[in-house]
Amino acid sequence: MDDMTFVLFGASGDLAKRKIYPALYNLYIEGKMPNSLSVVGLGRRPYTQEDFHNIIKESLESFSRRDVDESNLDEFLASFRYFIFDAMKNESYQGLKAFIEERESELSIPENRLFYLSVAPKLIEPIAASLHENGITDTSGWKRLIVEKPFGSDLHSARHLNAELTKVFQEEEIFRIDHYLGKPMVQNLESLIRPNPILKALWSHEQIANVQITASETVGVGTRAGYYDKAGAIRDMVQNHLLQLVMMTALHHPAKLTPKQIEEKKKAIMESLRPVEEEEISKHVVRGQYEAGEMNAEPIPGYLEEDGVEENSNNDTYFAARLYIDNDYWKGIPFYIRTGKRLEKKSTRIIIEFKNEVDADEDAAGAVSNLLMIEINPNESVGLRINLKDDSNEKFEPAYINFSKNLDAQPEAYENLLNDAMLGHSTYFAHWSEVELSWKWVQPILEAFENDALPLHGYQAGSEGPEAAEKLLNEDGYTWW
Ligand code: BG6
Repeated sequence: MDDMTFVLFGASGDLAKRKIYPALYNLYIEGKMPNSLSVVGLGRRPYTQEDFHNIIKESLESFSRRDVDESNLDEFLASFRYFIFDAMKNESYQGLKAFIEERESELSIPENRLFYLSVAPKLIEPIAASLHENGITDTSGWKRLIVEKPFGSDLHSARHLNAELTKVFQEEEIFRIDHYLGKPMVQNLESLIRPNPILKALWSHEQIANVQITASETVGVGTRAGYYDKAGAIRDMVQNHLLQLVMMTALHHPAKLTPKQIEEKKKAIMESLRPVEEEEISKHVVRGQYEAGEMNAEPIPGYLEEDGVEENSNNDTYFAARLYIDNDYWKGIPFYIRTGKRLEKKSTRIIIEFKNEVDADEDAAGAVSNLLMIEINPNESVGLRINLKDDSNEKFEPAYINFSKNLDAQPEAYENLLNDAMLGHSTYFAHWSEVELSWKWVQPILEAFENDALPLHGYQAGSEGPEAAEKLLNEDGYTWW
């Protein structure tokens, strides 16, 4: 890995504390760091270097998956410096340039600069422009930009943002984070089928009945109403995470794919995703909002009673849809996706349901369809459901074959992503074509939501979501798994 400067905007923010410092620490423990690294943390608060080191230390103690080892902590922290910075002030950028250069010469680091924007979305554009205007991106080494979601708030704003960023960074230099792509089981999808002849034999148009992708959450809107009440599940989860899961599931290819081919295939999948015509949206899409309910025997307020949510907000906290990928491979096989807050369980999973070609007797004896179950979060496992006769030898009962990963040994999504960005590997980042095509698919649905052209189904907190989502599958003869 090249020696580099890692410039972190938003160094005292929540994401830095929860994810970025713990990820860097775990990479450091595993020796996945450059020999010489300068981390420059930027924020408006007037912290001293000592304050900054204490913040990092506390973040590791609270959020690192490994216990902090005091014997190497100082060495780890020695890379970190704090710089007081106001993103809207030009003097700040001039000071930053001098600060970065001083550390580069102190540590004899080439001008390789990685800029991580962990900031409010409205700051992304002005920061990129100011980095350029102040010559900070004008390096003799490489430069890279990491940006967090949301990347725009609709097709138009995403295109505008991308046009502005690409004035400063080339597409290959932009690493758009979708943390679902950093999850180990999601990274596994690309190579799950090809080396497994058992799965490969099943993985065909003739055998698969449908694909179901669920990302259900137990948490509510929490303290994020300011953002979420405008975004809704559709922008927060569907346009990015769920559509990335659709792409990764549909990626299957007989030969090993190079990173470039993965990128091209994902783009092709999005191009084949059947657009939802305006008059058909209510047939294929369900939106919902949680109402008061109960979870773990505790009363839970409804969405409209949450702090910061607008009175009478018709924002979606639940989304389900039926999708079709019109390519040779997936033609006619429905993909169902759903996500929601305040649901019964936290679970991100992909279920492949196989066609159930049993005769009438077997059907009467209770044979069920076979399933391939891929759990992404909180468990990481792959399982199969098959039919076995019960003790009476007359009835079937489903048997489960399951392989679970040891969660303690699994890296956090941010570890995988930061490691890749530092190496310059962009496979598990959202490329512009994917982002743009995802917004394109979502845009008519966004408009239908905004025009209130779709019913907003209430569902009780702690339930499985609105009944309308169940009906979506029942119409096709299926149920959600
Ligand atoms: C984030 C969303 O991107 O993903 C959150 O903004 C959501 O609203 C989170 O809770 C879910 O991530 P995970 O990894 O817990 O499934």
